[in-house]
Amino acid sequence: MSRQQKRVLSRLLRIVVCLGVILLTLKLSIIIVGNEDKPLPVADELRKLLIEAEVDNTRRLLNVERVCKKYNLGIYRKLAEDSLFKHPPTPQYSIFYMDREHNISYCPVYKAGTTTWLYNLCLLMNVSMETLSPGKQQLSTIARRAIPELEYPEAERVLNASRRLLVVRHPFERLLSAYRDKLENCVAGREHGTLHFYRKYGAKIVRKYRRKNFTEPRPDQVIRRDNTPSPAGVEPTFREFVDYVIDTDLGSYGDDHWMPYYLYCTPCLVNYNIIANVESLWRDQVYAINKLGLQDKIKPRWRHSNGHLNASRIYFRQLNRATVQKLYEKLRLDFELFDYSPDIYYEYATSAD
Ligand SMILES: *[C@@H]1O[C@H](CO)[C@@H](O)[C@H](O)[C@H]1NC(C)=O
Ligand SMILES: *[C@@H]1O[C@H](CO)[C@@H](O)[C@H](O)[C@H]1NC(C)=O
Ligand SMILES: *[C@@H]1O[C@H](CO)[C@@H](O)[C@H](O)[C@H]1NC(C)=O
Ligand SMILES: *[C@@H]1O[C@H](CO)[C@@H](O)[C@H](O)[C@H]1NC(C)=O
Ligand SMILES: *[C@@H]1O[C@H](CO)[C@@H](O)[C@H](O)[C@H]1NC(C)=O
Repeated sequence: MSRQQKRVLSRLLRIVVCLGVILLTLKLSIIIVGNEDKPLPVADELRKLLIEAEVDNTRRLLNVERVCKKYNLGIYRKLAEDSLFKHPPTPQYSIFYMDREHNISYCPVYKAGTTTWLYNLCLLMNVSMETLSPGKQQLSTIARRAIPELEYPEAERVLNASRRLLVVRHPFERLLSAYRDKLENCVAGREHGTLHFYRKYGAKIVRKYRRKNFTEPRPDQVIRRDNTPSPAGVEPTFREFVDYVIDTDLGSYGDDHWMPYYLYCTPCLVNYNIIANVESLWRDQVYAINKLGLQDKIKPRWRHSNGHLNASRIYFRQLNRATVQKLYEKLRLDFELFDYSPDIYYEYATSAD
């Protein structure tokens, strides 16, 4: 090799290395930025996403119909035949957010994408960013002011004539999330009503379900947050909460925050057009925004989950398998309607008693 050739070769090598570093940096920054503000897919990528989401949505709608028929519920009920499940006769109109301008009715399930969707609805109603900035007022209060409740029969008419949206999440994840938010700690989160929840539910749950041989959950069965005050020590454990849920007629005496989907948003009575999942919140949001023709008005919001990744793995250690089985039976209709599986939770449930 001549000296000239060597020089050219080494320069080429340097360029290649440089290019590599630049590409790597670019890719890294995309990953980092992607966490904050996920770029919308375009062209083929968007088309592919929309097709996949549409297929999933259709499958979900058909599955709801199948399960409602199987159990003879709601609008699929055949007269004179009995059903295994107690079911309300009409939807709860008052819980919906019905946006007549954009022809959307949304059923808000606590801890299942409500922040994202109430925010979207507020933007559609021209609520200012200033009003929506965190820490001001509860989002549900702002959204209710922008979209007041409708009364029957107007509510029925509007619900029938709009596109109906529901977002669901694994039933056990939602239940645990509601417990951790509202019942686990009555010292922290008072602005979110934890003291009220303690007085209304927590104290009673402990009185009824605390065992004589009670011991505090082990440190590997709970998650304590560093920057929040510890619980007062009087709150129900997750296991006690689950015992309460299993025993309670949730339609009559439960709370909206842990009422099963089939009693709350009544998918056997309300023929939803879009059923999104929290597990694919971003993709389903892109899909819903497109399907509802709102691309020019709102953008999908990318949200970090602020929950702990392994929360259920940790808290379900407080339970034994028999208890998980009972909890599953209690929520079985939700599991079947939205095609979730309880299997992995049995493995988490390692308590001996
Ligand atoms: C929001 O603003 C847009 C554009 O100014 C307007 O067309 C629309 O009617 C407004 N919607 C509401 C609910 O005020
Ligand atoms: C709304 O839809 C339900 C179910 O499809 C139907 O029974 C009812 O008559 C409709 N009500 C109105 C006001 O359109
Ligand atoms: C609203 O949505 C319904 C579908 O539920 C559709 O039949 C109707 O045409 C829509 N109305 C408007 C004004 O977009
Ligand atoms: C604690 O009491 C419950 C019944 O209240 C019983 O099933 C369980 O075996 C007891 N556990 C221990 C460790 O004694
Ligand atoms: C979750 O659990 C898995 C398996 O035990 C573990 O490898 C992982 O580090 C845990 N993640 C967090 C965030 O605790």
